[in-house]
Amino acid sequence: MTGSEIRKKFLQFFKERGHAIIPSASLVPENDPTVLFTTAGMHPLVPYLLGEPHPGGKRLASVQKCVRMQDIDEVGDNRHDTFFEMLGNWSLGDYFKKETIEWSFEFLTGKKWLGIPAEKIYVSVFAGDDDAPKDEESIRIWQELYGRAGIKATVADAKKPDIGSGARIYPYGKEKNWWGPAGETGPCGPDTEMFVDTGQRHDPSFGAACHPACDCGRFIEIWNDVFMEYRKTAQGKFEPLPQKNVDTGLGLERAAMILQKKEDIFSTDLFAPILDWIKKAAKNSDARAERIVADHVRTAVFMLADGVVPTNLDRGYILRRIIRRAVRYGRNLGFKSLELAGLVPVVIELYGDVYPELASQREKILNELKKEEKKFEQTLSRGLREFERLAESSSATEIISGKDAFNLFQSYGFPLEMTAELSRERGRGVDEKEFWKNFEEHQGKSRAAAGVFKGGLADHTAEVTRLHTATHLLHRALKNILGEHVTQKGSNITADRLRFDFSHPQKMTPDQIAEVEAMVNRVIQEDLPVRFEEMTPAEAKSTDAVGYFQDKYAQLGGNLKVYLVGNEQRGYFSKEICGGPHVTHTGELGSFKIVKEEAVAAGIRRIKAVVV
Ligand code: SER
Repeated sequence: MTGSEIRKKFLQFFKERGHAIIPSASLVPENDPTVLFTTAGMHPLVPYLLGEPHPGGKRLASVQKCVRMQDIDEVGDNRHDTFFEMLGNWSLGDYFKKETIEWSFEFLTGKKWLGIPAEKIYVSVFAGDDDAPKDEESIRIWQELYGRAGIKATVADAKKPDIGSGARIYPYGKEKNWWGPAGETGPCGPDTEMFVDTGQRHDPSFGAACHPACDCGRFIEIWNDVFMEYRKTAQGKFEPLPQKNVDTGLGLERAAMILQKKEDIFSTDLFAPILDWIKKAAKNSDARAERIVADHVRTAVFMLADGVVPTNLDRGYILRRIIRRAVRYGRNLGFKSLELAGLVPVVIELYGDVYPELASQREKILNELKKEEKKFEQTLSRGLREFERLAESSSATEIISGKDAFNLFQSYGFPLEMTAELSRERGRGVDEKEFWKNFEEHQGKSRAAAGVFKGGLADHTAEVTRLHTATHLLHRALKNILGEHVTQKGSNITADRLRFDFSHPQKMTPDQIAEVEAMVNRVIQEDLPVRFEEMTPAEAKSTDAVGYFQDKYAQLGGNLKVYLVGNEQRGYFSKEICGGPHVTHTGELGSFKIVKEEAVAAGIRRIKAVVV
């Protein structure tokens, strides 16, 4: 079964069960300040999981492109990658555990669907702790389903999980079977995960006994059903949620690996043409390097197609790191300068029909990739010399200081990870903590850029909500002062500041900046009401509301929320399609200040602003 057939079957299965199929959102989250990239299918749905009505209804399904960086060091083994596609289904306060688990099992094992033999499937459930009880309900549902398939499903001892016990259902604690918000508070709950037994022999270096969550590679985690039934309060208590949601995620690459009976994801049809190209072009063979190059170039192509460009900050830094790492491993394989760009058409050919943005951005992807490789080359050899000098000057017990590592980054474009890898190869370490101290001092940035970002829900604190409303006011003020050509290209909010990217050909003058600031502050002083109306996409369009989601959701035919600032008598200051939340009066914002205006790409400006 090809990757493309798996995608189709999944969407068909859930469509037949009353789900609206929603398109993949961008890899760049539009309204979630807690993450740099979309890391799960649930990300674009955060406002709806928090209770906003979704225009598609209460049952949704999607194939979502995702990026996760936390496993970057693992890429090269049989199952880790940095870009992946997640097949997901959601219930927004509609069905709960019974239907979710039954459907997961039916889709995995049904002859018409994936047809994986039930006896190869093992599951995990939440074991219970002081905050929430053991998930007995999921256990009962699984036992019933296994029973129907003629399999007696016993529950493993949570303290001593061992596949040798013959158990099917494995209880684990929060570290494995709980999905919660990246922030401190918000909706969360137990999950149940499905694993496929590959039949490989257990590797005892991972522990004496094998069990589904063992990392030795025998069991492949394929699907995760999350039951969002609690809310974690600021006091650290877990309260039952009034609206219970379901959020599931099935990894496409892993499903393909199992169904195509491959030992690794790189041999599936989702990767094979990329690997074939690499093997043919390479002078040397090295399986790990080949996989790293394949994974990283694929990820870079998708990031570039979604408008990320290599820089030294945030997302741009991650992309830079990915490209430079691909180039470096490419060199180990004997690739010449700019040869890697030859992979771009291979990736586009492979994914272009599902993700048309790849083909439409072809030129840009190629140019940016080549430009970044050139930049890297210019400093690589000088940087390597500098690194060797540093490595030789310290004795074998010493580590490269954070300051030196930062200097390599700042002057020679060496991502920290590259310095760390080169050091490891020479039996040394790097003071990473000190590197980040230097990094933050110089960039005023957070560790987020290091790839320390988990999936999870945004918590809508008061600060974030105020900045969310301030973003609408800024957007409108920019249009009023610079012209209607201004359109939103990106938005990111943390508790401390808003960041807004928009199209505009020149740098803003100091006068324009002052005017925009003054206009937003006037609206704040007038203490205008902020409320929303639900409208059909056609109605929203006729009110001239601005908004990102318009095109995407129009096809679903459901209602949209339009946030209105001001009142009808005097005319609304701003109308914008958005999931919210927002303050109720502009006076709550205090005072608005633009702290920075800069270029992010040709024709795209970025404003950072605060409310105090
Ligand atoms: N959010 C959950 C995950 O990422 C289920 O989709 O695993």
